Amino acid sequence: MSGAIEVKDDGAVRTIRMNRPEKKNALTLAMYADMTRALRQSDEIDAIRCIMIAGVPGAFCAGNDITDFLNAAGGGLDPRAHEFLHALARRQKPLVAAVNGVAIGVGTTMLLHCDHVVAGSGAVLSTPFIKLGLIPEAASTLLAPMRMGYARAFSMLVMGRPLSAAEAKDAGIVNTVVDSAEAHDVALAAAREIAALPPRTVAVARGLMRSHLEEIIKQIDTESMHFRELLQSDEARAAFAAFLARRK
Ligand code: COA
Repeated sequence: MSGAIEVKDDGAVRTIRMNRPEKKNALTLAMYADMTRALRQSDEIDAIRCIMIAGVPGAFCAGNDITDFLNAAGGGLDPRAHEFLHALARRQKPLVAAVNGVAIGVGTTMLLHCDHVVAGSGAVLSTPFIKLGLIPEAASTLLAPMRMGYARAFSMLVMGRPLSAAEAKDAGIVNTVVDSAEAHDVALAAAREIAALPPRTVAVARGLMRSHLEEIIKQIDTESMHFRELLQSDEARAAFAAFLARRK
């Protein structure tokens, strides 16, 4: 394990916590690999009936580590990031998210795969892919228009306009907005509520509600193909370098 991903099983709920506060929980390749392992493993443990993804106060996740993007520009999207997206989409146990602070890039698009999202009132969701010379990933080009309607999805995914927690709830990405200090506990209570339901019937209902899973996987793969090409563009490389060189 990278150390920046903490996995804790408490009763029937597994919590996967991103814990790299000094970098606002930007995801490194090692963190993707650890999250993939924790997600896949939870499908094999009968006692786990729900998974909660959480961050740290002020940062759910600032997206892919931009240094890794810059380093990967020659080689394309790293398989560890791609596998994480597959694991997220294919996981069999319901997924709850506790969102506090920033949720950027994959920090927002992973929420489209969650079954229940609790956000602190100060949370901000944003997907600045296009501004970075990239395209949205994690099947968000399919799921966001389905969930929010095309107009709001365009504003978020293409124009890169951020959503407040309240706007995200209005758009149907977030279930509940609570005081930021309570987001973790409210999400955990929801995860326990889901975990207490009959697991087989939950699995059947989820399977039916997610009957377009193969379409989602195909979209992830198609997006990744474009993403791979764009990572190598001068435009994207300049945007990554500008972020890393910026003055505070
Ligand atoms: N990749 C790499 N490093 C990142 C990062 C990312 N995605 N997001 C934040 N960091 C780093 C910063 O470089 C900084 O590191 P430093 O202290 O060594 O300089 C540290 O995390 C804290 O970030 P900082 O920008 O100082 O904090 P802030 O509160 O002013 O802003 C963010 C926080 C998340 C809004 C801002 O860092 C940001 O916009 N990050 C980029 C998000 C992004 O574009 N992600 C990719 C989406 S596809």
